[in-house]
Amino acid sequence: MKLLLIGSGGREHALAWVLAQSDQCDVLYCAPGNAGIEECAECVDIAAEDVEALVAFAKEKAIDFVVVGPEGPLVAGLADRLNEENITVFGPSAAAAALEGSKGFMKDLCTKYDIPTAAYGRFTNLVEAKTFIKEQGAPIVVKADGLAAGKGVIIAETEEEAIEAATDMLSGDSFGTAGNEIVIEEFMDGEELSYFALADGKTILPLTSAQDHKRAYDGDQGPNTGGMGAYSPAHFITPELEEKIITRIIEPTIAAMAAEGTPFTGVLYAGLMVVNGEPKLIEYNVRFGDPECQPLMMRLQGDMLEILLASAEGRLDEMHDKVSWSDSPALCVVMATEGYPGSYPKNTQIKGVKRADQIGGVKIFHAGTGKNADDQLVSTGGRVLGVTALADSVEEACKAAYRAVDIIDWPDGFCRRDIAWRAIGTQEAAE
Ligand code: AMP
Ligand code: GLY
Repeated sequence: MKLLLIGSGGREHALAWVLAQSDQCDVLYCAPGNAGIEECAECVDIAAEDVEALVAFAKEKAIDFVVVGPEGPLVAGLADRLNEENITVFGPSAAAAALEGSKGFMKDLCTKYDIPTAAYGRFTNLVEAKTFIKEQGAPIVVKADGLAAGKGVIIAETEEEAIEAATDMLSGDSFGTAGNEIVIEEFMDGEELSYFALADGKTILPLTSAQDHKRAYDGDQGPNTGGMGAYSPAHFITPELEEKIITRIIEPTIAAMAAEGTPFTGVLYAGLMVVNGEPKLIEYNVRFGDPECQPLMMRLQGDMLEILLASAEGRLDEMHDKVSWSDSPALCVVMATEGYPGSYPKNTQIKGVKRADQIGGVKIFHAGTGKNADDQLVSTGGRVLGVTALADSVEEACKAAYRAVDIIDWPDGFCRRDIAWRAIGTQEAAE
């Protein structure tokens, strides 16, 4: 098969790495890709958001199957356009991508179909928003309705802070049109986890869990980021909790989307808060998590191409014995450019990646990397490398990943040194 993968992050490098291993993969293109993806795919210089150029490329090369990594092109209708051209695509239609693209849409669907989530209100009017905040009291959570690169959420400790966030969002100052409408919701106090499942419009194929680290610095301090590290499985997942997540949240959502006439195909990534053992939905994403995808792909046993294709073709009911997960946990440490998630320099040189990649159980996934005129590896973005390790225990995976981090010679980079601290703390406490 001829494949086209869309995206340029660590998630896409992990996907490219597993897709290229499939017997069915003859040619793999990636648009636009990065310096790491080049090792397993042919990178094509088309932006992930350039829907028409991607469709034209897929037609020109007679691509059999397109796998979309990020949410942007999905919300912009890339899957719809490919379907119109009869090109098979992994990823939801724009209408189904609204589960991520509009927080208000997701919340209303939960209300209509009785899916557990935080109590909320939707607002376009500041006066009404202020009244709601005063009625509910703090802490309270204020969210821009639209896509805001993971930054459109303010956890307000006081009513004043919530009103300030609502004012900034509705005025368009903080998130542009994504903040024209806001969702204000109850603050949930619990432990977070991410859960992933594939869907083909009607059937689901549960995958596995992970836990992300959204803050920039150790001890969950500093600004929110796209994710500074992740491990899989989440340390507190149990078969009972997984069953509740599937039957109370994932399955009802897929049934609801079908009932609404917008069936969901692709990967559904549920951001969940577990409060007293009960899962509640924080948010949906319509794609794999980045960096969660990297440990997931290290643990995957099975042919990823086969199952993604089954999801796209409505055959997931045939796939239930086709995917399993290594019992060994995997962990990813993100190395980012100093300054991220604020402004940061580009084209800083990175050495030692090949040597670090040779450590047993370690795989280094690239995100914002490129090559300079002298063919040296340089940074091109905020999150740059995902140093990922699979081992018998989270501690061992952690040691291996940080050994690799320490070999990488990149004076302009930084990482958190405490990825999986919750899991490791728990294991130490249990011993
Ligand atoms: P989101 O972009 O919706 O995932 O929100 C970003 C982060 O804000 C989440 O990962 C949570 O840590 C936190 N968060 C969002 N909504 C809530 C809520 N209702 N209660 C508590 N924390 C929340
Ligand atoms: N790591 C969080 C996300 O992919 O949205």
